[in-house]
Amino acid sequence: MSLYELFTSKGRSGFGYGSTAEQVTAGLSLDGKTVLVTGCTSGLGQEALRVLTMRGAVVVGTARTLQKAQAACNAVTGKTVPLACELSDPASVKACVAEVKRLGLTLDAIICNAGIMGIQTEQAFGYEKQFFTNHIGHFMLVTGLLGQLTETGRVVMVSSNAHTMAPKDGIQFDDLAGTRGKADMATYGHSKLANLLFAKELSRRFAGTKKTANAVHPGVIHTNLGRNTNPVFMFFFGLLGPLMLKSVAQGAATEVFVATSPSLATTSGEYFADCNVAKARVDADDAVMARRLWEVSERIVADLPA
Ligand SMILES: NC(=O)c1ccc[n+]([C@@H]2O[C@H](COP(=O)([O-])OP(=O)(O)OC[C@H]3O[C@@H](n4cnc5c(N)ncnc54)[C@H](OP(=O)(O)O)[C@@H]3O)[C@@H](O)[C@H]2O)c1
Repeated sequence: MSLYELFTSKGRSGFGYGSTAEQVTAGLSLDGKTVLVTGCTSGLGQEALRVLTMRGAVVVGTARTLQKAQAACNAVTGKTVPLACELSDPASVKACVAEVKRLGLTLDAIICNAGIMGIQTEQAFGYEKQFFTNHIGHFMLVTGLLGQLTETGRVVMVSSNAHTMAPKDGIQFDDLAGTRGKADMATYGHSKLANLLFAKELSRRFAGTKKTANAVHPGVIHTNLGRNTNPVFMFFFGLLGPLMLKSVAQGAATEVFVATSPSLATTSGEYFADCNVAKARVDADDAVMARRLWEVSERIVADLPA
């Protein structure tokens, strides 16, 4: 497929690689809807915040600190509720959940967008830090907020095609501390496979309700995500960005589409890329591994310092 074809081709949804978050929500009124977006200060989350508020949604924008969340929310004109939610700090996640409840916010969608990449040697609470931040932090947040979801509430996990680089045998239940040496992308991919499996298991638990849970790959976009990776690589990545990569506006499209499109009211347990259902790695469909990850995550959260 030529670059031109890749950019312009559309899938069954009517959208594709080149679609932007503004385009996938064109004509859609989100008045009366409330959407929580994690990591609203940068990259895809910042664009999701901008476009969702532009369409009328109240966006609960979370960031590592309240000051950062406030600054991001102040930069848009729509209705926002800035909140602190440092995903690698369970106390901060718990406080965020408590604040959403205290404010009486009901959520039409939660977009688990925040993420880190490329710091495989660090740990949080004895767990590999990308797994802890990208998966456990969001697991705590979403399971804490299930009661705040509306009857038709949606959970969108921002995973990545990098889940295909996770170790071949899937979630490393015997090494969640990440002490076995792995390549950078395998460690990041492991956390993104966890995002996918979490969406699968949540979708299974939503069965019989009108709530949905899906995962997305946003594309490859030059954002701050690479800040912990090789600076030389990032320099060339940045140079090639405008030619070879999605723009931030295009990168935010899939998560915004899956969180809001009326066409997806009953679509759950799927993996999306370029605003269309896509194929994930085979074991991302492994219901046994997904259930085990949920149960292990519950135990991890229960054992964290109060
Ligand atoms: N860019 C890509 O090519 C690509 C490809 C596939 C998947 N993704 C996924 O897309 C999502 C968005 O990434 P992006 O490209 O927009 O990256 P980004 O520009 O680095 O934005 C990431 C956001 O997450 C926040 N964040 C990071 N660590 C956090 C923590 N511990 N607690 C709370 N918030 C935290 C960041 O806040 P600070 O700025 O304060 O750190 C920032 O707001 C991520 O989940 C990423 O894995 C991106």
